[in-house]
Amino acid sequence: MDTVVVLDFGSQYSQLITRRVREAGVYCELLPHSTPAAEVLALDPKAFILSGGPNSVYDPGAPLLPVYVIESRRPVLGICYGMQLLAQQLGGRVRASARREYGRTALTRQAGSTLLGEALPAAFEVWMSHGDQVESMPAGFRQTASSPSCPIAAMEDPAQHRYALQFHPEVNHTEHGREILNAFLAACNVRAEWTPESVVQTSIARIQAQVGAAPLLAAVSGGVDSLVAAALAQRAVGEQLTCLFVDTGLLRLGEPKQVVETLQTALGARLVAVNAAEEFLEALAGVTDPERKRAIVGEKFIRVFEREALRVARQARFLVQGTIYPDVIESRAPERQSAARIKTHHNVGGLPSDMRFEIVEPLRYLFKDEVRRVGLQLGLPESLVWRQPFPGPGLAVRCLGEVTWERVERLRLADAIFTTELERAGLLRQETAQAFAVLLPVRSVGVMGDGRTYQEVLALRAVTTEDFMTADWARLPAAVLERVSERIVNEVAGVNRVVYDITSKPPATIEWE
Ligand code: XMP
Repeated sequence: MDTVVVLDFGSQYSQLITRRVREAGVYCELLPHSTPAAEVLALDPKAFILSGGPNSVYDPGAPLLPVYVIESRRPVLGICYGMQLLAQQLGGRVRASARREYGRTALTRQAGSTLLGEALPAAFEVWMSHGDQVESMPAGFRQTASSPSCPIAAMEDPAQHRYALQFHPEVNHTEHGREILNAFLAACNVRAEWTPESVVQTSIARIQAQVGAAPLLAAVSGGVDSLVAAALAQRAVGEQLTCLFVDTGLLRLGEPKQVVETLQTALGARLVAVNAAEEFLEALAGVTDPERKRAIVGEKFIRVFEREALRVARQARFLVQGTIYPDVIESRAPERQSAARIKTHHNVGGLPSDMRFEIVEPLRYLFKDEVRRVGLQLGLPESLVWRQPFPGPGLAVRCLGEVTWERVERLRLADAIFTTELERAGLLRQETAQAFAVLLPVRSVGVMGDGRTYQEVLALRAVTTEDFMTADWARLPAAVLERVSERIVNEVAGVNRVVYDITSKPPATIEWE
């Protein structure tokens, strides 16, 4: 399959470039700039994109342009720092600047450019984020655009298929960014072969080649990733696969049933479902500290999984995992992992570290939205594929205070009412990235009929966010909130007051624990 390689020089937008190329239907991989040449060239890239980065080409130890990029004579697009690298390496000059230019700026294009073609307006807004800029171009290049503070905002040498942009075509703030990237892909003649069908076929072939006739085990947690991974494995090896689903008792209403129905009935997979709710709740008894809850659920999951795996698939040599591409990218470049851990993120469904399985990772090269498209392609229901993220420790961290049967059940019901009403109002996809109920360990006085009540308080949380690193509280319509509140107080025993959380992240987090 025709492949484009993005070399990562540390920009916060590197993943976004990769996603944009894939959105154009072209297979693309993001690799650290320091990846050994042989490894990069083994992919036989049809073109390279050099990302931006925080350095100045004049910094001591600043990353250099790998020699194979120019020697391979393949088409190359440099973005921001990538442009400066190209300029410097090919004999141009970069001007160091003490001041950063950051934000939107007006770009004026010259006629006759390959990347900034005649279909684009003569001037439009682009997103800049740079200190240095190209002062004089290498031989063979011509300037193709300028901005008020950056005379050479784009340059190209179409005869050699070398292109460079000082602005970021990958971000949404840049008008016509996608057209510019697509013009690069068209100029390189790369074939758009990356479709959900081809992803499914390639993944199936990879799994078959890896496992042969050996038995395979898949842990499914109810999350989208583990389900799609299991569904792919099922397509690839059928009867060789056993799916193991551990019901922790901490999932949302109807989830265990839906997982079982989807895998067993719809996909025909061999599935063993283990109801371990009692064990989990026993382990959580009396615990109120959020991090202790996380540790207990994570540890318990590993132990239950180990025991049940031995029981149902003693022969299994391989274990399917739902690792996705952003996890792979992060583990390749540890400096990219966020340093400050606010909460430990135990992913229930994670591998018991002392088990002796070989790992199969069918989603290793997929971004989240691609996982969803593959899921649909495999026939998984939309309601499952588009499910909002759910934390590994589940309802344990949404049931503030002690996690008891009664309280979890109360929370589960209230949560179902909230999400049902949001779904009915069409607010569960675009309008909210995550919406859920939180049961507070607080009681308040109320009045029902003629009697005084003294019952628990339930908080509703709904946020909008792109990346879950920052989030804003969702401005839900009052009529929807009213209906949710009425239904919860009337239908959920033990709750007499409903409040709506109007804090953003930061300073709050999305989950309450
Ligand atoms: P916070 O609460 O940190 O959440 O703003 C950001 C995102 O992470 C999810 N989250 C978790 N996911 N295990 C997980 O797998 C966890 O322990 C956990 N804690 C928070 C949260 O739901 C949100 O999507």
